[in-house]
Amino acid sequence: MTTWLNMSLQDGASPIMEQLIFFHDHTLMIMLMIITTVMYMMTTLLWNKHTSRFMLEGQLIETTWTIAPAIILVFIAMPSLRLLYLMDEIHNPTMTLKAVGHQWYWSYEYSDFTKLEFDSYMIPQEENQASTFRLLDTDNRIVLPMNSPIRLVVTAADVLHSWTIPSLGVKTDATPGRLNQVSFSINHPGILYGQCSEICGANHSFMPITIESVSANHFITLSLKPKSIIS
Ligand code: CUA
Repeated sequence: MTTWLNMSLQDGASPIMEQLIFFHDHTLMIMLMIITTVMYMMTTLLWNKHTSRFMLEGQLIETTWTIAPAIILVFIAMPSLRLLYLMDEIHNPTMTLKAVGHQWYWSYEYSDFTKLEFDSYMIPQEENQASTFRLLDTDNRIVLPMNSPIRLVVTAADVLHSWTIPSLGVKTDATPGRLNQVSFSINHPGILYGQCSEICGANHSFMPITIESVSANHFITLSLKPKSIIS
């Protein structure tokens, strides 16, 4: 999760998010090159009179400065497309989680396990304890196995919502009458936080998402017990 003074991306908790961070840094380096060059050219122009008695045209330089940006764009577009299609891939999911957006809470269905569904509300500030994070913790966390490909299907019951976990690189609109699909796997055990990111009404800011990532063995043990923290 984000802590004080963290202005960059959160640490990646899934292979896709790690790749997204690499792509972000790669694109920033290209931007840095362009900004440096353009700033240099602009400051140089200040001390230039822009007059030449003999130069009427410069075919070579015009060809160069037309083609060069196109080549630079290819260096951004290729890894970008690679990631786009990689994020769309479903790698034989071990389980499916269904998330439904409501005003203003999420509800979840573990469709692989019979009748396993629950609502997940934010823990209000008055009830906030030292062990919970303000505006981020929920009364019922999603429990998921780590190191396992997971399919997530997202929809909404009333208005547009968005199921977003920055550290997983997942951000999917929850649309009424539509079922969106994403897949991810979690790299490590721990708790991951997310928030709705589609302006959905008065309490838009108060429908966080909390994932409890546990080992696959632990997850199976939990899911076999009806009174576990999943139910
Ligand atoms: Cu739900 Cu914003």
